[in-house]
Amino acid sequence: MASTTQAHLPSLGEHQRDEVGNQFQATLVELVDLALAGKQLHWTVTGPLFRPLHEQLDELVDAWRELSDVVAERAVAIGYFPDGQSAAVASGSGLARLERDALEDHVVVRELTGRLADVAERVRERMDRLGEIDAASQDVLIEVVRALEQQLWMIRVQFGHAVVDARARPMGGS
Ligand SMILES: [Fe+2]
Repeated sequence: MASTTQAHLPSLGEHQRDEVGNQFQATLVELVDLALAGKQLHWTVTGPLFRPLHEQLDELVDAWRELSDVVAERAVAIGYFPDGQSAAVASGSGLARLERDALEDHVVVRELTGRLADVAERVRERMDRLGEIDAASQDVLIEVVRALEQQLWMIRVQFGHAVVDARARPMGGS
């Protein structure tokens, strides 16, 4: 007889459960790491776009934390235990470390969009993979991809000019 913890799990094979769980784990650590990077940028941004970036970054951090919760809870719901602790994030997330320094607003936009675009692309690949295994789990990653791509669009239209303007500045100018 199945134990209480094993009873009524979704009818996925062991291999499928691990495969889906691994995709969730990889996504979870990246979302947690994005939230950590977002806070770092929230603190270190400087320049004319300080205020809108400082505020937008906190909204993004909240959104990434909520998404990481949705992903982790779906993992548990299928019987897979995720790890969102610092060691798992440090070893599992491929996001580059940010410089521990003041960062100009256009640099913040570049660092932010680069990380966000990379994560969105990788979650999209995982979303495609889950389509062949479990549609209900795929739906969670669809939600993540849709949110990340919407965030990219909003950053692009609000702050994209800042990066272009910075490139157009003469060397050594401000
Ligand atoms: Fe703050």
